[in-house]
Amino acid sequence: MPKTKCFDENYMDYEEWFDKNRYVYLSELKAVKHFVPQIGTGLEVGVGSGKFAVPLGIKIGLEPSEKMKQLAESKGVKVYGGVAEALPFEDSSFDFVLMVTTICFVDDVDKSLREVKRVLKKNGKFIIGLVDSESPLGKIYKEKKDGSVFYKDAIFYSAK
Ligand SMILES: C[S@@+](CC[C@H](N)C(=O)[O-])C[C@H]1O[C@@H](n2cnc3c(N)ncnc32)[C@H](O)[C@@H]1O
Repeated sequence: MPKTKCFDENYMDYEEWFDKNRYVYLSELKAVKHFVPQIGTGLEVGVGSGKFAVPLGIKIGLEPSEKMKQLAESKGVKVYGGVAEALPFEDSSFDFVLMVTTICFVDDVDKSLREVKRVLKKNGKFIIGLVDSESPLGKIYKEKKDGSVFYKDAIFYSAK
C-alpha cells in the first residue's frame, strides 16, 4: 500500500511548507539542480506537487497520491498514477530519473531501484535527493518523525 493518505489529506499544508521555508526550498532546489542534466527526457518518481519537476524543467512525473498528482498536473507536468515499484513505462525510456524525498516512502526500495534502472537508457542518470539518516538534519527528522503528519511512516536511509 503506497503511503499516500497523509499527502491526500494534507496536500495544501505540504505546498505551504515550501512558502514558509522558502530559503530551505531554494537551497534544496539549487543542490538538486546541480546534478540534473540540462538535456534529455527526464522523469521524476514521486513527483508530488511538482515543486522540483517544474523549476527543473522535468515534464513527466509518476505519483500515487491523486491530490498531489492533480496539483502537479495543474502546473503543466504530465503525471502518471502508479508507484515506484511498478513504473508504467517501457524499458530504456528516460535519459534521467529524479527522486526527491520519496525513497523514504516507498514500500520496497530494491524493487523501486530496479524499476528505475529498467526505465533508464544506457548511461542514463539517476539522481536521488534524500534526508540522509546519518546527517544532522536526518537525526532531527528521525527524532521528531512520530509527531510529523508526513514523516511518521517514513524510513530514512543514508547515502551509504
Ligand atoms: C515528501 S513527498 C516528495 C514530493 C516531491 N518529490 C517533492 O520533493 O516535493 C513524497 C512523495 O512520494 C509519494 N509516494 C509515496 N509512496 C510512493 C511510492 N511507492 N512510489 C512513488 N511515490 C510514492 C507520495 O505520494 C509523495 O507525493
